[in-house]
This record gives sequence, C-alpha cells and structure tokens, in this order.
Amino acid sequence: MLSVVTDYLTEALGHVEEDRSGSLAGYIPELAAADPHCLGAAFAMVDGTVYGAGDVDTAFTIQSISKPFVYALALADRGFEEVLAKVGVEPSGEAFNQISLEPGSGRPLNPMINAGAITAHSLVGSHDLDAAERTRRVIAGLSAFAGRPLSVDESVCSSEMAHAHRNLAIAHMLRSYGILDDDPRAVVDGYIRQCSVLVTARDLAIMAATLADHGLNPLSGERVVSESVIRQVLSVMATCGMYDAAGDWATQVGIPAKSGVAGGLIGALPGQVGIATFSPRLDAHGNSVRGVALFEQFSGDMGLHVM
Ligand code: DON
Repeated sequence: MLSVVTDYLTEALGHVEEDRSGSLAGYIPELAAADPHCLGAAFAMVDGTVYGAGDVDTAFTIQSISKPFVYALALADRGFEEVLAKVGVEPSGEAFNQISLEPGSGRPLNPMINAGAITAHSLVGSHDLDAAERTRRVIAGLSAFAGRPLSVDESVCSSEMAHAHRNLAIAHMLRSYGILDDDPRAVVDGYIRQCSVLVTARDLAIMAATLADHGLNPLSGERVVSESVIRQVLSVMATCGMYDAAGDWATQVGIPAKSGVAGGLIGALPGQVGIATFSPRLDAHGNSVRGVALFEQFSGDMGLHVM
C-alpha cells in the first residue's frame, strides 16, 4: 500500500513539474526570496498513516492556511454566537486582502479573508488575555492541530510586518467599527506571527487530517476542537477557502480547502484524508499554480469531489 500511494504521488508530481507559470508572493520581500522549484505532496489518512513525495519535509510559512485553524480556536474559546457577531460566513468574491466588510455593521464577510482572519485572531482565548498571551495560545493551538510544537520564522515575520500597511489599514477600519476591541497594531502583529509559523507539507497534511477526523489529531490522539466546530470550519473552507477562485475550485476540485501565499495548499475530506501540497509559485488569486493542478488530478483520479 505504502509504495502504491507513494508511487502515485511521485507520478502526479511528475505531471506538473515542468509548469513554471505563476510568481512568488512579491508583497512580502522574504517570500519573494523562496526557492520557486520546491514541489511536494502528502496524504495523511485518518488512521494516522502519512504518504509523501517530493519536498514534504521542507519548512515554509503557513500564511493563510492558519486561518481555518485559528477560526476553529476562536469558535472553541468564545462560542458560535460571539464569533458570528463579529465575523460572517459569506463568500466575498473579492481578493483576500480587500476590505470586504458588511455595509453598516463593518463585520468582515468571512474568516478566510484577511479582515475576517485578523478578527478571528483577536477572538482566541479569553477576553482578558494580553496580545502576547493570545499569540502564544494561537501558536499552541496550531501546534495541537499539527501534533508537534511549531515555531515562528522571525525573518518572514519581520519582513511582513515592515510592509503591513494594508493589514494595518484593515485593522484600523475594524477598530473604528468596534469589531476589534484591542489595539489594531498589536492584533496585526499577532496575526502576522500566526501567518509566519513554519510548517512542512507533512505537517499540513496532518493538520488537514485533524479536520477530516472531526477534530481528533490522528497522530497524537488529542481532541483539538469539537465536531461542531469542525463542521463550521469545513463549511467556510468549502465556500470561501479559495477566495475569488472559490467557484472554479468547487466545480473542478470539490474539496474543502485553504491556500497560503508561501505556496501551501490543504484539502480535507471528512472521514478519509487530509491532503497537502507545496509549490511556491502563485496564480492571480494568490493560490499555488501547481498545487491547484495537483488537487485537480487527485480529485479526478480518485473521485474525491464532494461539494
Ligand atoms: O496577511 C497576509 O497577506 C499574509 N500573511 C497571508 C495571505 C495569504 O496567505 C493569502 N493566501 N493565499
């Protein structure tokens, strides 16, 4: 079994290897310095078996793939009512870094875009946590999803923070509407640390498998969040996880998913498998070009379309 799945993954990588299209995320200087040739894919089954091919142990920053997990932590810590009062669940149809706030209330449309993710970050832990404690809780929560302690890439973190004008502007808007209660700069600082957590494709597959296993980490056996939280998270990934490409993704791949600008991409099939790919060149939506192509192959070859 091991070699059959690994051979399949190796062959799938071979089909996309020559594709040099797309470009590195230029708005974070440190990400623009990444190796564009990296390519890897991993499957983590809900029984804990992990299969991988290519660059599955190369570390890169999680970026927006942190968003569904931090949304899960916010729901677990504050409850659905409090979180839904501050972050909606509607696709924005806009790019991830647009303001996309509901007219009138100022509530971000969903937790997968930056506005909603910055808000979700601020909702982790109890009300009285200070910014540094909240960020520690976020990183501990991401580590529980991965089943091992994760750390922050300080150079990516400071590189993004030095160019965070757009996220700071969004956070100030959120503060003016009373959606954020805390200092906007401190929240953005914590959100950017969250995005700078280092993972491998293997880690991401296990994190996705924890979603697929309804909140149980298949490696550590730890229950990270409840089944009802996971249901909410997978629904939002299905409708909003691929931003303004969510419709194309739903029809062509049909798996709840989330992408990140460092080139990671995850998909979770409930009860079955967590899938992760890594390839840094991005399309115009900020999604990995070869990652999307790999997921199209996986979905087609194995009939994984569930949406
Ligand atoms: O806030 C940002 O812009 C980045 N830290 C994360 C954006 C991202 O990963 C978008 N996804 N494809």
